[in-house]
Amino acid sequence: MLPSDDQLIKRAREAQKHAYAPYSEFNVGAALLTDDGQVFTGCNVENSTFGATICAERTAVFTAVCHGVRRFSKIAIVTDSEEPAWPCGICRSVLFEFTPDLEVITAGTSGKIERMRLSQLYPKGFRFTVKNE
Ligand code: THU
Repeated sequence: MLPSDDQLIKRAREAQKHAYAPYSEFNVGAALLTDDGQVFTGCNVENSTFGATICAERTAVFTAVCHGVRRFSKIAIVTDSEEPAWPCGICRSVLFEFTPDLEVITAGTSGKIERMRLSQLYPKGFRFTVKNE
C-alpha cells in the first residue's frame, strides 16, 4: 500500500534528525515517494566550504537514482520553521529533471501542510530531452 501524506511527512521528520547543519542550524528532511511505491529519504549536509552543502531534497533524489529509480510521484519536505518551506531553485531543477509534474508537500511546525505541483513552482524549467528514458 502506498504511504499516506502523513506517513511521508513522518519519514521526512525521521530523516531530518540526521541533518548536519552546524552553520545555518536549519535542519531539513525530505521523503521522496517513487512511482513504484518506494520511499527514499534525505537530509541536508553542510560543509565548511559552504558551497559544497547539499539540500535534503537533492540527497533524497540522488539516493533514489543511485538505487536505479528515476520516476517519482511525491516529495515531502519538513523544516523547523513555523511556516512550510519550499525547495530552493537548484532542488527545483533537480526534481524537474526526473518528474516535471511532481507533487511537492511541505510541512512546518505549526502543523500547516501545503501542496503544489512542481510545474507550478518551476514553470518552464530547463531540461534536455533524454533518449530511452
Ligand atoms: N536547505 C535544504 O535542505 N533544502 C532547501 O530547499 C533549502 C535549503 C538547506 C541547505 C542549508 O543546509 C540550509 O538549508 C540553509 O540554507
